[in-house]
Amino acid sequence: MVEIRGLKKSYPLAAETVEALRGVSLVLRAGEMVALVGSSGSGKTTLLNLLGCLDRPTDGVILLEGQEVQALGEHRLAEVRRRQVGIVFQDAALIPTITALENVGLPFSFDRWSGERAEIPAQMLSLVGLADKGGRYPEELSGGERQRVAIARALVYRPSLLLADEPTGNLDSENGRRIFALFRELVAKHRIAALVATHNKDLAGMADRSVHLRDGRLVDGGDR
Ligand SMILES: Nc1ncnc2c1ncn2[C@@H]1O[C@H](COP(=O)(O)OP(=O)(O)OP(=O)(O)O)[C@@H](O)[C@H]1O
Ligand SMILES: [Mg+2]
Repeated sequence: MVEIRGLKKSYPLAAETVEALRGVSLVLRAGEMVALVGSSGSGKTTLLNLLGCLDRPTDGVILLEGQEVQALGEHRLAEVRRRQVGIVFQDAALIPTITALENVGLPFSFDRWSGERAEIPAQMLSLVGLADKGGRYPEELSGGERQRVAIARALVYRPSLLLADEPTGNLDSENGRRIFALFRELVAKHRIAALVATHNKDLAGMADRSVHLRDGRLVDGGDR
């Protein structure tokens, strides 16, 4: 389970301070896929970056599996980010010069490779329906397939939290629906908490529920 309380983020600029999040409280339960909606500039990416430990909040609390992450030092924070959180971006962001299977195994290359782990990238690829395409290079895959590779890569550490920022933004509506259906299936089956930002109302409707950000506040679906 993931819980955030009173989360605030401001970006100080030369002439002004941008209040990107003004106190967001939310609980994400294991096995639940939550859609994050809101217009451009409402704070979706800011919220995902804080939950993904890519940035630190100005104020508030983030509890990941009972641990307060905003207080952790740089080293521990990097560990949490790598092992407990999986992130998928709008662009699959695959490395073009290595195969799909190698891309999925990439997070492990920062670790000592242990024998028992050697099978995991292939397992994750078959989880997303690409068992037969591990040897292809990213440019030899469709946009939807590349995004499925990115999802497989996000799952190799068996994260408790899966975050996605407009993961279907570059896909047509049919592929977008397939990716959302895949998220929902994986999240329920593997008891992952997921927060997926989207501009698309139809796709948001495929999630278990939606939360709505407006001007740095949750106007719908927040907790407390
Ligand atoms: N690094 C930064 N420095 C200053 N302001 C920023 C920074 N990043 C984001 N902002 C501002 O914070 C607010 C929230 O931005 P954010 O990227 O979270 O919005 P978003 O909901 O993801 O929008 P979009 O749908 O366009 O991706 C915006 O006003 C934006 O201009
Ligand atoms: Mg954004």
